[in-house]
Amino acid sequence: MDSYQITGGKKLQGEITLSGAKNAVLPILAATIITGKESKLDNCPNLSDVKNMTTILRQIGCKVKKENGSIIIDSKDIHTLEIPEKLMREMRSSVFLMGPMIARFGKAILSYPGGCEIGLRPIDIHLSALQQLGVKIKEDHGYLECTAEKLVGNRIALDFPSVGATENTMMAAACAEGETIIVNAAKEPEIIDLQNYLNNIGAQVKGAGTSEIVINGRNSFHDVTHSVISDRIECGTFLAAAAMTGGEILIRNSIPKHMIMTVSKLRETGCKIDEGKDWIYLKAPEKLNSIEIIKTQPYPGFPTDMQSQMLSVLTIAKGTSLIVETIFENRFKQVNNLKSMGAKIVVDGRSAVVTGVESLEGATVSAKDLRGGAALVIAGLGANGTTIVENVCHIDRGYDDFDETLRKLGADIFRV
Ligand code: EPZ
Repeated sequence: MDSYQITGGKKLQGEITLSGAKNAVLPILAATIITGKESKLDNCPNLSDVKNMTTILRQIGCKVKKENGSIIIDSKDIHTLEIPEKLMREMRSSVFLMGPMIARFGKAILSYPGGCEIGLRPIDIHLSALQQLGVKIKEDHGYLECTAEKLVGNRIALDFPSVGATENTMMAAACAEGETIIVNAAKEPEIIDLQNYLNNIGAQVKGAGTSEIVINGRNSFHDVTHSVISDRIECGTFLAAAAMTGGEILIRNSIPKHMIMTVSKLRETGCKIDEGKDWIYLKAPEKLNSIEIIKTQPYPGFPTDMQSQMLSVLTIAKGTSLIVETIFENRFKQVNNLKSMGAKIVVDGRSAVVTGVESLEGATVSAKDLRGGAALVIAGLGANGTTIVENVCHIDRGYDDFDETLRKLGADIFRV
């Protein structure tokens, strides 16, 4: 397992251009199954999660090829409707394949996607929504066999605005007879990108970005070229890294309206932030201010995927900050590692109280999940001395050449 070796204390300075969004491209890759035609996806990020998803698509019969930054999928000859357990275990986002497979073939067999470090991550809301479209679900030895004679549109109220359940339901409903209304839908920007892809292949979807999405089923689709939106969490992660090191950064190809809550909280720490149509500029203060409270919520609230990164930044802010994680039950996994670097953090259930210290000291720490791993890198960038972050494979899932991009900004970081 590779590690990062970081020598902290260098102010990050310079500019980067964002990649395509991991959490947009994964459901869209799954949705290409619906068409039986060719989809060309531009601005795809080069991530291990994307590689895993394209591996699954190939295994079930799709032709997949990569052309510098684009992925071309021809989903005409799908011959398997079973997702191998090993691949399900490796990446829970394989659950996105359920909706499209059922939409086109009326069948999908997959093993229960495992939980992960940040929580149990059940799929009860996905399954309940699919059942309301007419899907029969049989559970047998940890495998789910989903079948549907016919998918019929329905009004479906989600117990929680689950991003994945909203996306799975949109994709299944794209081929259901009649109208489906999803109530209490998630409103994340990645859901709008999926709606745009679905409409571009000939589906009829509207309302993404609001809590009510209306889908009218269709049964024929066509080739498409679709460009994936840029990654708002990658954007926030680099803004946080610049804040942590007292640096300044210009981020191109960003979408400021996706960053409102993250920018607002970084401004509270004293960062000066300017924005243009497709760029964000941050200049950090000499000393960061603490933040009274950061509470993660479904979009447009503060994103849970930025919580770990902000927690690292607040470890060296003046004063005490409160972080409340309302989305996942176990998203403070990197706190003990941060405490070994000298951070003062008390975790009680879903809340963490962070008391700012003068500075962190380098240590050997290990990543346990994607965003917690990125947060440990941010801590190392701001710490005195050398930090070793182990198990960087977790970070590869969501950041393309993370160390190379940081080196370009002046960080002393190497993959070992
Ligand atoms: C998506 O996960 C993202 N992943 C996550 O990003 C992100 O943290 C999450 O949305 C919330 O924004 C992708 O898009 C690939 P949810 P998802 O369904 O769809 C509970 C990252 O770091 N829930 O909105 O799995 C669930 O346990 C990753 O990029 C149920 O109880 O998130 C969680 O507590 C991490 N039953 C909450 O809802 C269900 O059927 C939010 O989950 C589904 C979800």
